[in-house]
Amino acid sequence: MNYLIDDEIIERVRSSSDIVEIISQYITLKKTGSNYTGLCPFHSEKTPSFTVSPAKQFYHCFGCGEGGDVISFIMKEENLSFPEAVKLLADRLGIIIEEKDDPKSRELKKKKELIYKINKDAARFFYQSLYNNEMGLAYLKKRSIDKKTMNKFGIGFADSSWDSLYRHLINKGYAEKDLESAGLIIKRKDSSGFYDRFRNRIIFPIIDTNRKVLAFGGRIIDSSMPKYLNSPETSVFLKGNNLFGLNIVNQETDRSKIVLVEGYMDVISLYNNGINYCVASLGTAFTLNQAKILKKFNDEIYICYDSDLAGFKATDRAMDILKEEGINAKVILLPSGKDPDDFVSERGKKGFEELLKDSLNYIDFKIRYIKTKYNFNEVEGKIQFAKEMGKFLKEIDSPIERDVFLDKIVLETGISKEAILKEFSSKFNRMTYTEDKYIKNKYRNNKDKIIPVKNVLEPAHLKAEKCIIYLIAKNEKIFKKIKDKLSPEDFLNYECRELAEFIFSSYEENQIINLKELYTHFHEIEDIDDNKMMEILNQNINISEEDIDSLIEDLIETIIYSKLKHRRNEITSEISIFESKKDKNERDVERFKQLCIELLEIDRKMN
Ligand code: CTP
Ligand code: MN
Repeated sequence: MNYLIDDEIIERVRSSSDIVEIISQYITLKKTGSNYTGLCPFHSEKTPSFTVSPAKQFYHCFGCGEGGDVISFIMKEENLSFPEAVKLLADRLGIIIEEKDDPKSRELKKKKELIYKINKDAARFFYQSLYNNEMGLAYLKKRSIDKKTMNKFGIGFADSSWDSLYRHLINKGYAEKDLESAGLIIKRKDSSGFYDRFRNRIIFPIIDTNRKVLAFGGRIIDSSMPKYLNSPETSVFLKGNNLFGLNIVNQETDRSKIVLVEGYMDVISLYNNGINYCVASLGTAFTLNQAKILKKFNDEIYICYDSDLAGFKATDRAMDILKEEGINAKVILLPSGKDPDDFVSERGKKGFEELLKDSLNYIDFKIRYIKTKYNFNEVEGKIQFAKEMGKFLKEIDSPIERDVFLDKIVLETGISKEAILKEFSSKFNRMTYTEDKYIKNKYRNNKDKIIPVKNVLEPAHLKAEKCIIYLIAKNEKIFKKIKDKLSPEDFLNYECRELAEFIFSSYEENQIINLKELYTHFHEIEDIDDNKMMEILNQNINISEEDIDSLIEDLIETIIYSKLKHRRNEITSEISIFESKKDKNERDVERFKQLCIELLEIDRKMN
């Protein structure tokens, strides 16, 4: 229901609420200088570290790191969703939010219908173009996708002509502005007209269970960047609210199980090999809304993400999110370095089904995953491992499960059960979390749970990422200076990476960036940490023209160096896992060689 509230009303609610007055209704605030302070309502404390700034209309707690604007305060304090919080504030202020059946919503509904219609026509056009174009067909053939699969998913092709879709749809009588709001065409910077968003790409329509075409994803057929391009958010397509392939699972299967994968090609290739119960979360950031959708289908969910470090991290996150929804997902582990498409293309349906039978449950996956972070050749590594595992003990409600879990830690580390229990019984109640190691889990109904950010960045590195993002968001000239030296994948902090992807593609599409709009955009996205966003977008960097180049150079160097270091750590931990492994197969040895080569290369670069 997010989008039923007009942006303008949200802005009005935000600007008419006095944050000091609102927060004073919940806690006692005292004026200190230009700000107000009080005891933080989000964690227990004896001396006030909760600060409210009337000038900035923000609050921030220096104790627990919570912070945000008046709407996020109400969300957290009252445990409400974004629109519910806006509604509550609006009611208090006497601002009327029109009900569902008002003219505005009717208009929105009409607009949505129009976009669905445009999308359907676009999908037909892409589909027909595929058969008029050898390059598209050749690409799909190279990837062994057969006709039946192509038709099932409505796969199409966008040629490289810059305006063939534009001309087709204009000829059909659609208005430019509507094609633009469907995200299919982009205005030229010099305002001399429009061009097609998707060019030279295989097109995957994203279709919902009502067979409506919500959006498109496009994969480039040569080596240009970006590899995948998706429709922007539109009034019918909210990122993180959909899953690719759900229409197929809905139509074709008994829904008794669903496998969650990362990408379009994974779903398609699995289907092509007879596995028709897969959906993709589209990129790696799985959201609570997607978990809610899956829950409606079935409780038996498997996660089969790419078998690399990013994939494990994403799996770990997705598992936690699914758990929030009461789903005990299982993990299908692929051989190292593979994605589901690679695997099923090599080993077929049978191979995949065998793997599915061996899937790991929550506990076993956690053990596997957390193990990769520590060096088991050293006692210290084992202790650290046991300590981290211990945190999960606390979250397991069933005593039997907890006991099984404990036994497994004992087995992995050789540390006695008594010692582990002793360590944790005293620590359980006084664990502290620092902001950079942990973020508060922002998912609704569970405001006290903590999810670790696995990516612990060094302060200088995080600062460099934040600084660069801020500078390029503010100034396209600076973006131009860095764009050949950094890419979004170079950013390791989650929020920075999401922002980078957005900023890079916006500039690439000649769009202007406005910090406020950026904030509002990401504010809507469930798994983005608002505080971090705020910290990034609210910086105050004053730098003279002459100094800017050297600053940028420094920042880039810090980021690249840290990234190498980060990758180096990943490699050395993978190597140590390899070394501690008892039976090493050929593939392991091959992988080991690769890792050593990469390690040498990294060391060379770092020097
Ligand atoms: N993705 C995206 N934008 C990118 C890269 C990836 O939206 N620039 C999303 C796409 O939904 C893609 C998924 O992330 O399907 C997985 O990306 P990746 O693992 O890089 O690609 P593969 O699925 O392996 O694709 P392919 O096999 O075609 O290379
Ligand atoms: Mn792939």
